[in-house]
Amino acid sequence: MSIVRIGLAGCGSVSQRGLLPHLAQEDIHPWAKLAAVMDVVPGRAEASKEKFNAEMAFEDYDDLLASDIDAVVLASPIGLHYEQAMKAIEAGKHLHINKTMTTTKAEADEVIAAAKKKGLVVVASPGNGLHPSNTRIREIVQSGELGHIYYSQIGTSGGGHEFEQFRSGNDVLSNVNPTWYYKRPGGGPMYDMAVYALHRITAIFGSVKRVTGMSGIGLKQRNFKDEVIDVDMDDNTHLLLDFGDGLFCELYGSNSASGPTRPFAQPFISGSIGSLTANRGELDVWGRDVIGKPGTESGHRVEQVDPRIPWVFGVHKELPERHVYADIMHMVDCVLTGKKPVVSGEHARHVIEIIELGYLAAETGQTQTLTSSFEMQDWELVHCE
Ligand SMILES: NC(=O)c1ccc[n+]([C@@H]2O[C@H](COP(=O)([O-])OP(=O)(O)OC[C@H]3O[C@@H](n4cnc5c(N)ncnc54)[C@H](O)[C@@H]3O)[C@@H](O)[C@H]2O)c1
Repeated sequence: MSIVRIGLAGCGSVSQRGLLPHLAQEDIHPWAKLAAVMDVVPGRAEASKEKFNAEMAFEDYDDLLASDIDAVVLASPIGLHYEQAMKAIEAGKHLHINKTMTTTKAEADEVIAAAKKKGLVVVASPGNGLHPSNTRIREIVQSGELGHIYYSQIGTSGGGHEFEQFRSGNDVLSNVNPTWYYKRPGGGPMYDMAVYALHRITAIFGSVKRVTGMSGIGLKQRNFKDEVIDVDMDDNTHLLLDFGDGLFCELYGSNSASGPTRPFAQPFISGSIGSLTANRGELDVWGRDVIGKPGTESGHRVEQVDPRIPWVFGVHKELPERHVYADIMHMVDCVLTGKKPVVSGEHARHVIEIIELGYLAAETGQTQTLTSSFEMQDWELVHCE
């Protein structure tokens, strides 16, 4: 195969704002092409095809799979990912799956095993834990500069997808109903948002051993335009993760309003002689033995993090959802070169099991023991500036 022909399923928010603008660029043609788009809402795929220069548009997922595409990008509601992933694998298509890959570990096991059996690539977003900013945090943690590390905190809070500016229009492309974000299976801020925090913290500390927590519904009804949404999925979840050796992390995923003082999925890490806070492109490192730059307060160092992401060059640096585009191109790279994905199904499966068992712990009041683990791999900084 000389280039990967991509078929994208689900032409909603992330696709319209980010994925399709990236995939419509001709500078990806040495490696990939947007061959087809698919959405069940009448007219949405056709309008996306026209706007983003795809070759084909479908309203039926089976028709997409029957077309001459090599790979599927799943950007549909999370509760559909498992079934659509299994169908794609059955049809012999490589896969990029938006977070989360599935909603249970058992489903994740099936997707990984089925793809392996057919020799197909599965890249499961988000790959944010492998970006240089996070690699640098891992380096600092492993260097011993913070001493023995035993306390950490990370999470995400955000009002909800009904507030996305993108959805305010009335045309077929932007009038995208977000109700599924509040329904089972697949709704709730853990699968959608805290998943970034979980990928990040596990990419720093490795696999989680045990999880416990509390979870509930903070806001029972929401509104999208003139429609009332009855929330039946928890929108406020707080977990305690045990990484072993006395290292605990408080993890939160809440659909409550937040401001700039609670930056998204930025870890606080604290050890016996120092601590680290990540904050929008900067790392604040405090500690007894921290060597500050000349002119800075003793014991305190601010580091700018490396903003580069693989595959993000030229116009892609200006487009939204760069990290998802990078994950898609990583899938393309793996298909073309035979590389093993580092944004792996195994890492996604571990995070999915944390979420699944976190909910179970909250429901039963019993701490749960994880059965899965994953191997951290390093992501090459290819094709970026
Ligand atoms: N919205 C974001 O900010 C964002 C960012 C990154 C990743 N994501 C991820 O992208 C995925 C989609 O999220 P979104 O916010 O774009 O959702 P969305 O609700 O805006 O769009 C989903 C689209 O899928 C379509 N759809 C419904 N059933 C379908 C089916 N059976 N087959 C194909 N398409 C179907 C809907 O009509 C809609 O157009 C999720 O996995 C989400 O976690 C979202």
